[in-house]
Amino acid sequence: MNIGITGASGLIGRRLVDLALRRGYDITAFSRSPEKPIAGCTMRLFPKDAPPDCTGCEAVVHLAGESVLGLWTRSKKERISRSRIEGTRRVVEGMLALRNRPEVFVSGSAIGIYPDSGDAELLEEAPAGRGFLAETAVAWEREAQRSPTPRTVLLRTGIVLAREGGAFPLMRRFFRLGLGGRLGTGKQWMSWIHLDDLARLILFCVENQSIAGPVNGTAPWPVRNEDFTRFLASAVHRPALFNAPAFALRLLGEFSDELLGSKRVLPGVASAQGFPFEFPELPAALKHLL
Ligand SMILES: NC(=O)c1ccc[n+]([C@@H]2O[C@H](COP(=O)([O-])OP(=O)(O)OC[C@H]3O[C@@H](n4cnc5c(N)ncnc54)[C@H](OP(=O)(O)O)[C@@H]3O)[C@@H](O)[C@H]2O)c1
Repeated sequence: MNIGITGASGLIGRRLVDLALRRGYDITAFSRSPEKPIAGCTMRLFPKDAPPDCTGCEAVVHLAGESVLGLWTRSKKERISRSRIEGTRRVVEGMLALRNRPEVFVSGSAIGIYPDSGDAELLEEAPAGRGFLAETAVAWEREAQRSPTPRTVLLRTGIVLAREGGAFPLMRRFFRLGLGGRLGTGKQWMSWIHLDDLARLILFCVENQSIAGPVNGTAPWPVRNEDFTRFLASAVHRPALFNAPAFALRLLGEFSDELLGSKRVLPGVASAQGFPFEFPELPAALKHLL
């Protein structure tokens, strides 16, 4: 089977490519810079203003988008939403243009779609929230749902824990220096997933014909920020004496809402379908990543 992957050069994409190649899939990687090869992949252009050529792809996994990390200036927010909404529209147009269409479209989404919900558990049926990230995710998913594929999966990914990218390497450095600490009250829930489990879950969605619609890409054991802090400090054998007060985090702008908001997301679909998490619990995931 040939899987087309946008964002194959990114954090999640690279791990997915490695895993899919090991499982014997052919990969077509779509990139804004197809001249930069990704080992084992056929490279194709992901044009900025036209649909990509998805010919020959039997599945498409769409992961491209401007990173949400960093300060959300007006232009950054515009890049975050445009790259997702218009990018997804172009991928869907690329598939609509084909006579032989892919069987399945797995489109990246994020748990940012859910509202700040305190201690309430959030399954895939939970309603969407308000605010920039939630409204971007709703519009992003709406574009994906126009896909002509028999199955469309909306992968609502949580905080991805990985050695090589995302927020974790920075957290690890702070905690190793003894500068780690909880954010705000620390009572807010954090829904995380180990990168290896996420890559396996994406292929599980590609392969499992009974999966369609929203799928929470999170581990079955979300934790409160204070517990995440305690586990990470203990894993690096340092105290976590500091506390970043909410008012200081607010200096980061709207992105602080994502750090302080509480999202206790559970992988309802993945669990119901019997997805075997390798890292269901945080301490083992952290041990593996340190
Ligand atoms: N990492 C996380 O913690 C996390 C959490 C929730 C959801 N997600 C979602 O999962 C998807 C993949 O995440 P990731 O962490 O792997 O992403 P990433 O590494 O930040 O980027 C993925 C790829 O997107 C392309 N890209 C970057 N900026 C772009 C822009 N402005 N316009 C168009 N394409 C752009 C780049 O590919 P080329 O340069 O090759 O085109 C890049 O390699 C994203 O949609 C993200 O929102 C990630």
